[in-house]
Amino acid sequence: MKIFITGELPDEAEEYLLQKIFKVTVNRKESPISRKELIRNTKNADGVISLLIDKIDSSVIDEMHNCKVISNYAVGYNNIDVNYAKQKNIIVTYTPNVLTDATADLTIALALACARNFHKGEYIVRNNKFTGWKPKLLLGIELKNKIFGIVGAGRIGTAAAIRAKAFGCNIIYFSRSNNPVLEEKTGAKQVSLDNLLRRSDFISLHIPLSDKTYHLLNKERLSLLKETAIIINTARGEVIDEKELIKLLKQKKIFSAGFDVYENEPNVNPQLLKMENVVLLPHLGSATFDTRKEMALLAAKNVAAVLSGKKPLTPV
Ligand code: GLV
Ligand code: GLV
Repeated sequence: MKIFITGELPDEAEEYLLQKIFKVTVNRKESPISRKELIRNTKNADGVISLLIDKIDSSVIDEMHNCKVISNYAVGYNNIDVNYAKQKNIIVTYTPNVLTDATADLTIALALACARNFHKGEYIVRNNKFTGWKPKLLLGIELKNKIFGIVGAGRIGTAAAIRAKAFGCNIIYFSRSNNPVLEEKTGAKQVSLDNLLRRSDFISLHIPLSDKTYHLLNKERLSLLKETAIIINTARGEVIDEKELIKLLKQKKIFSAGFDVYENEPNVNPQLLKMENVVLLPHLGSATFDTRKEMALLAAKNVAAVLSGKKPLTPV
């Protein structure tokens, strides 16, 4: 059976699949696969491993004549029309759990970077502008006793909250459902979204992108933030109305924002590049050696399971 992988992954994926005697083709180009190439290569594949940058909509799915499984190399799957795939009897899988800690780590890294002005400090040193210790140089915000608001208390939100708690933060969260584990581990309280936005010193987003969460933080909601607030997005750019957030940042109506994701990724709004009160990362949430290996293996196992007539490990 033929498997197509839309971009080069850690070797573990291919090794695992070759061992299971699948025929594996990999797009080895540096740049993302074009729609045309995607359709050409998935046409006759029995299984596909896709990346979060591959848009697999109904018209791409219509061209997949043999496909039984699309295994997304990501925890987010907003790039795939999952309902349409289901109608076509294609199973969609994803890679939860294995990237939870890496993404929660990056959340805290961004929170600290924003709060303690890492980017401004780096700039000073790299540009030979460090003229010596000063009592008031780049004063920042401490985590201790601050309110850390988690929007979306799933696995990653919970892991981020546990870390923030260790730094001395008080946790509040907004989530569709109550999370007893989070409450027990951190003493977190569930609150409404508006209440969270009004009270939090740190706001961290951990919701998937869907029709329901698109621009969840719109102009009105963003206007509730405190002047000292720091907002961190390691989820998907589209859950915030980025233009409105940029306005707030420009008017210094919040302290700063940490971006790992963007609304028109990979295009970053040019205004952000000129701003001092933002920390900008290129979508690195799960980017550790260990996690990417585990994601590769899990993505491969999901494909192999479905194509061997077994249940996938982590279906959507
Ligand atoms: C990364 O953004 C992922 O969804 O895995
Ligand atoms: C989201 O999928 C999460 O793991 O929190």
